[in-house]
Amino acid sequence: MTQKQTLTVRDNRTGDEYELDITDGAIRASDVGKIGKTEDEAGLAVYDPGFTNTASTRSAVTFIDGDKGILEYRGYPIEQLAESSNFLEVAYLLIYGELPTREQYERWEHEITFHTFVHEDIKTVMRGFRYDAHPMGMLLSSVGALSTFYPEARNITDEQIRHEQIVRLIAKMPTLGAWSFRHAQGKPYVYPDNDLSYAENFLSMLFRMSEPKYEPDPRLTKALEVLFILHADHEQNASANAVRSVGSTQVDPYSAVSAGIAALFGPLHGGANEAVLRMLKRIGSKEKVPAFIEGVKNGDERLMGFGHRVYKNYDPRAKIIKKACDEVFEVTGVNPLLEVAQELEKIALEDDYFVSRKLYPNVDFYSGLIYEALQFPPEMFTVLFAIPRTAGWLAQWIELVDDPEQKIARPKQIYTGGRTLDFVPASERWK
Ligand SMILES: CC(C)(COP(=O)(O)OP(=O)(O)OC[C@H]1O[C@@H](n2cnc3c(N)ncnc32)[C@H](O)[C@@H]1OP(=O)(O)O)[C@@H](O)C(=O)NCCC(=O)NCCS
Repeated sequence: MTQKQTLTVRDNRTGDEYELDITDGAIRASDVGKIGKTEDEAGLAVYDPGFTNTASTRSAVTFIDGDKGILEYRGYPIEQLAESSNFLEVAYLLIYGELPTREQYERWEHEITFHTFVHEDIKTVMRGFRYDAHPMGMLLSSVGALSTFYPEARNITDEQIRHEQIVRLIAKMPTLGAWSFRHAQGKPYVYPDNDLSYAENFLSMLFRMSEPKYEPDPRLTKALEVLFILHADHEQNASANAVRSVGSTQVDPYSAVSAGIAALFGPLHGGANEAVLRMLKRIGSKEKVPAFIEGVKNGDERLMGFGHRVYKNYDPRAKIIKKACDEVFEVTGVNPLLEVAQELEKIALEDDYFVSRKLYPNVDFYSGLIYEALQFPPEMFTVLFAIPRTAGWLAQWIELVDDPEQKIARPKQIYTGGRTLDFVPASERWK
């Protein structure tokens, strides 16, 4: 027997019944709005701060099953992409929906490689920041500033123009990110080297000094590629939602992506790996782990890098990062905090407090260790997240622009303030 895909709702205020269609496991908020609607009264609204149970879009970009610990980009499991693909191929897959043919990939790689330079005036913009400017502040401002260099980007419905901006954004993010890093160190900005791959060139712009050619260790390049792939998208998270919300005004993609960077800057989003590192340093040694765990169980603090709003199983990205850690430490020497992290994980995964609450390591548990081993200061961690996430933001943005159902994002409110008060001028109020 086929089930009827509807929901019957009885409004006990009036006794009226409504039948709402269910499509893909969701009812439409606009149908809810018909409940109790009269000429004088607004219909029922849905109150959902933080959008914890509101689907804002249909999307074919990224699939997550948090209970099973599954993450797929365009249907491809993250494990396979991290093992056998590279960041530029994954970026193409996310943005254009299909794995590229050889010709498409070669053209894409060529285009990205030859758009890595930024206008010299952008360098001047960046030079204008204070000597200790936070690199994320510099990144979001300089990406926003790009919109002034490419005014044609406002034409968001022209596919060719749109493609050009996508190429520019993916190509220039490492340049802007690396320059933000060098700025705080008082070191000269390093121009892109177009003989190098995407990840190699980024490492060159970060670390090159007087050597005529920077030759990064292939193991570090591979680890960076893997980290970039793992961070490339994560469906409707806070920054993707920021890009979509700002993008829904039909603004240019530079402005929309800079909104995404701003959202990522917040400690509840991009900053958790920094907190993990601080926690590991504070614990200091393996011997102190049991006492720390007891403190967590007593509610003194949280075990940072554990637990996730969506994953109620091992975060699939954490497994892959753990493996990448070993490869990086082969080059840099083992980070002594790794021992502390491993002991924390071992004890927590056996402890009923964590097991019963389905608290498993998330992506941030090990990534900070790698970043530190690569000699990045904590302020750079979120920049390293923003660079690959640009691919995901753009994939989400294109989907939004092409979706005829999307409208300018404009939530409702439940108004709680005063009404029809009589204004008294300051000259009378302050007598
Ligand atoms: C990610 C996070 C915010 C998800 O939160 P959430 O889905 O809202 O889960 P809740 O805060 O409702 O937690 C559910 C239970 O697990 C506990 N819990 C959740 N994360 C915990 C952690 N990291 N350490 C200890 N206890 C934790 C909560 O205290 C709560 O216990 P209770 O039921 O006894 O009150 C949360 O797990 C957390 O703060 N983790 C640490 C920070 C972090 O690593 N963030 C990066 C995410 S990628």
